[in-house]
Amino acid sequence: MPSTPDSAEIERAAAILRSGGLVAFPTETVYGLGADAANPAAVAKIFAAKGRPQDHPLIVHLADVAQLPLWAAQIPPAAQQLAAAFWPGPLTLVLKRAAGVPDCVTGGQDTVGLRIPGHPVALALLRAFARAAGGRRYSGVAAPSANKFGRISPTTAEHVRAELGAAVDWVLDGGECEVGIESTIVDLSRGRPVLLRPGQITPAQIAAMTGAEVGAPDAAAPRAPGALDSHYAPRTPLHLVSAAELPARLAALRGKKLAVLARTEAPPGLRDVQWQAAPRAVAGYAHELYASLRRLDALGCDLILVEAPPAAPEWQGVNDRLLRASSGT
Ligand code: TXA
Ligand code: MG
Repeated sequence: MPSTPDSAEIERAAAILRSGGLVAFPTETVYGLGADAANPAAVAKIFAAKGRPQDHPLIVHLADVAQLPLWAAQIPPAAQQLAAAFWPGPLTLVLKRAAGVPDCVTGGQDTVGLRIPGHPVALALLRAFARAAGGRRYSGVAAPSANKFGRISPTTAEHVRAELGAAVDWVLDGGECEVGIESTIVDLSRGRPVLLRPGQITPAQIAAMTGAEVGAPDAAAPRAPGALDSHYAPRTPLHLVSAAELPARLAALRGKKLAVLARTEAPPGLRDVQWQAAPRAVAGYAHELYASLRRLDALGCDLILVEAPPAAPEWQGVNDRLLRASSGT
């Protein structure tokens, strides 16, 4: 376990952000690749480091809910309720953007994604950055997940260093991310709440706080390009297989170099298969998911078979990531 960054390191990281550099930092979901959200040249470095298309909007991370009205033109009651209930935490709200919010973080859309993350290192960095920005109006940190475009999000500082290396000016090491999959994204810019990306916080929890059902995106919903089909993908082809089908699949693929991620133990007598046992409960499963996929991907197998988790609502975020990781293969 790495030691938590001390206040001197946090101040140094905030100064790097202030001067237009990139700082990777831990959040409770995944590691983010941060830049000053009000500095287009700094934000451009994020897109360059990730190889990400320029029109993709970024989530702006805030230190304090008091900053919300600076970024959002309208704060509907549902936004207030969700912020009060879940911030700091793994929830991103998409709201109508305030006039003056830099185009570089909105991808030219009329909305902005906002989140107060729940990780103490992230919060310390955001507060130090807001102080360093000296009362400037827009003191937020734009941060996508700190991975190359389309690849698996990092859940340790080591993942970030391995994937982005010298493209990042500083990596704050906060150990393993607790949640393990990216934040739930809810669009509140058009009246009724719409789920743009499932995560640990479920539609049922959101509905319980707002009294409104959470809809699925329709054609007019804001684009969430990270919700592209082939995303969160390892390089090795990945197939999702039901638990019932797994034994027959393994038999049919005998002779291939296989990796398996399953919530069950390997059957006795199985040979030449790299078996990774995953936690049975969703929180542990999500926490380990990306690190497990990275590990299995590095083995150079012909195929990764993932035993499909339950279809229950609390598994929606995990199932969404697995489906995307399997799409195109
Ligand atoms: O947990 C997380 O959300 C992590 C940590 C670092 O906070 N961040 C993250 O960022 O996952 P990223 O960029 O990898 O994914 C953000 C998603 C993208 O699909 C993006 O298109 C969408 O959020 N998004 C951001 N702003 C949006 C907006 N104004 N309207 C619609 N979608 C938006
Ligand atoms: Mg991402």
